[in-house]
Amino acid sequence: MHLTDEEQRILNGEHGEPQRLSLQVLVKLGEAYGAERMVEIRSAHLVGSSYQIAGEAGIAIYTQLVEQGARVKVRTTSDPGSIDFTRWRQFRTPAEYAERQILIAELLDRMGVIPTWTCTPYTIFNVPRFGEDLGWSESSAVVFANSVMGARTNRLAAYVDLCAALVGRVPRFGLHLPEHRRGEILFELDPALSASFEDHHFPVLGYLVGQVTGDRIPVIVGIREATFDQLKAFGAAAAASGSVALYHMVGITPEARTLDEAFGGRPPVERIFVGKREIARTLEQMSSGNGGTVDVVGVGCPHASVDQMRRYASLLDGKRVHAGVELWVCTNTVVEEMARKMGYVETIERAGAKLMVGTCHNDCPLGAWGFRRLVTDSGKFAYYTPTTVGSECVFASTEACIAAAITGQVERR
Ligand code: F3S
Repeated sequence: MHLTDEEQRILNGEHGEPQRLSLQVLVKLGEAYGAERMVEIRSAHLVGSSYQIAGEAGIAIYTQLVEQGARVKVRTTSDPGSIDFTRWRQFRTPAEYAERQILIAELLDRMGVIPTWTCTPYTIFNVPRFGEDLGWSESSAVVFANSVMGARTNRLAAYVDLCAALVGRVPRFGLHLPEHRRGEILFELDPALSASFEDHHFPVLGYLVGQVTGDRIPVIVGIREATFDQLKAFGAAAAASGSVALYHMVGITPEARTLDEAFGGRPPVERIFVGKREIARTLEQMSSGNGGTVDVVGVGCPHASVDQMRRYASLLDGKRVHAGVELWVCTNTVVEEMARKMGYVETIERAGAKLMVGTCHNDCPLGAWGFRRLVTDSGKFAYYTPTTVGSECVFASTEACIAAAITGQVERR
């Protein structure tokens, strides 16, 4: 692997131990993937900010790095933590657990990480531009940055993301190379389905695409239009049920103005037809167990936008969450503040729902609740809930989720 004089100096330890160690890790990663050189990155995003992910090993590594004077070299943001920093007691988080997450926050702060605590950093804090190289982790953010914004990042692992932040570089392989960004597998939407495509179909289609695609690059044709939030929901589901880090949606995403551009002039290696039957089958797979009494409803995965907060508020206005049911809305502090100014938070909380800020159901320890059935409109929650929350999960549209919170009952569609 070719290294510049500056990189060689870093490896020789001239810029301190944190940089030397970080570059050594990145060089080894690059050699494993056949990278010819490093590339400078515009920003980093860290999934290892969560105690659930970083664990005690993360605390030990971060402590050592701080003692050695580590500082991030590029704009670096943090993914959701494992607690809501202001309301963790409300969510029955054990105090010892909360203390470990607070310690991680202090350590990251000392390294210069921006405490965004969100999986949607691309909306305001860390907005990539087309063609920029990044060093990001968090599967839902990586797939959004690559696909919708046209930036370039591989799906980095925890700790490796911090190495990238500390040296401002990543090895140039995979999705940093234009020739590795071409579509491989084509998903053709039935025109009859495409004409009646609804909001909740996006995470379902994403889930289906992820299952079939694995880590290849899917191209979807037949979607007529999609909002920012719909693309967010689609990508998060595809990145959870598969390892999708980049997708192209013809006529919608920037590297797919035409079908030919999406495939870089090559034919697809596989074609998949998606009609109502395939969507119905996937919907079935996204729920475990049967419907019935609801314990908890989770919306805002990935973190809710102001538009979504407005929608929750309008669905909850004048209503009341059923006694014994928890309705949790996950978002970040900036959206919370804006939604509060606009009166949405007041409406949501008056109905008995709770805001879960800077974290989510999948990042927090929820054992103390003993939940048996969760309802969600998120493909990513639907995929992870049986293992992270340990409960049954029913996937439903946003409207059906709010209705389930109000009635305390859900039907499996
Ligand atoms: Fe974000 Fe948590 Fe969902 S990190 S993407 S809200 S599982």
